[in-house]
Amino acid sequence: MSDLEWIVARSSAVPDLKLPRHVAVIMDGNGRFARRHARARTWGHRQGAKALKRILEAMHALSIPYLTVFGFSMENWHRPKEEVASLMHLLVHYLKSESLQLKERNVQLRVIGRLDLLPDFVREELEKTLKLLIGCDGMQLTLALSYGARDEITLAAQALARAAKAGDIDPESIEPEDIERLLGTCGMPDPDLLIRTSGEKRLSNFMLWQLAYTEFYFSSVCWPEFDARFLWKALLSYHKRQRRFGCVQKHLCDPLVVMSPEETITPPTQGYMGVDMIVENSRNITSGIETS
Ligand code: FPP
Repeated sequence: MSDLEWIVARSSAVPDLKLPRHVAVIMDGNGRFARRHARARTWGHRQGAKALKRILEAMHALSIPYLTVFGFSMENWHRPKEEVASLMHLLVHYLKSESLQLKERNVQLRVIGRLDLLPDFVREELEKTLKLLIGCDGMQLTLALSYGARDEITLAAQALARAAKAGDIDPESIEPEDIERLLGTCGMPDPDLLIRTSGEKRLSNFMLWQLAYTEFYFSSVCWPEFDARFLWKALLSYHKRQRRFGCVQKHLCDPLVVMSPEETITPPTQGYMGVDMIVENSRNITSGIETS
């Protein structure tokens, strides 16, 4: 039985299986994997590209519609220039060798990050692949390249500040949705599950805005060895979790069900409690307390 058949069989054996709609992955540990095999880091990255192919195929087989991977971070530009160059060439090789398969699978490709910083030959290959995949409307693969979440949010803030300065928007009317519209991920659902491999437990400036309510799964294996079986463990862990989004377990975001009508507090529709309001509120609370 192939890995794909295995994971599909596993998934159909679980009643009411709850699969994530959007999986984001920090593909970490290529270098350590290479060291363990006494090979160069570039070899580790090549094995990492093979793992990406495997995981995309498995998610496609499970009909998980969104996969976003951290392919190259803003911080990665500071790696030795030979490693940066080899990652850029690997990316082009991946696009060239996978584009027809992606088309056959009806995969939509999206790229987020500071693409203006990528070398011309990478941008040209990305454009070619994006053109080839025009019309595909199946699963969406998003490559985060030259990507940093703080950078992404800063660019959105700059755009809003420019619009406010020009008098096109009222700063007081800015909503989270206005920021979302200016992020690379605009229009995509937020990730439901974030997987990071290699045992590291941090976000490393990845999708800081979009991961606000995402479930995290940390795997101790290095990315190049991550396969359908490890993916299944992550998906099963997700299946068992209860997501509350800051609300109450059984009655998600429905205060009328968990409180009597007199107790019901209307959730704020606009406005955010800023520092001044918090200080003011705590003054009101503490002023009622007798101190001896
Ligand atoms: C982290 O491993 C991984 C990267 C910096 C790059 C990820 C790239 C790939 C998986 C190659 C294929 C990607 C695409 C988009 C085709 P690391 O080098 O930091 O590993 P280490 O922490 O063990 O040194």
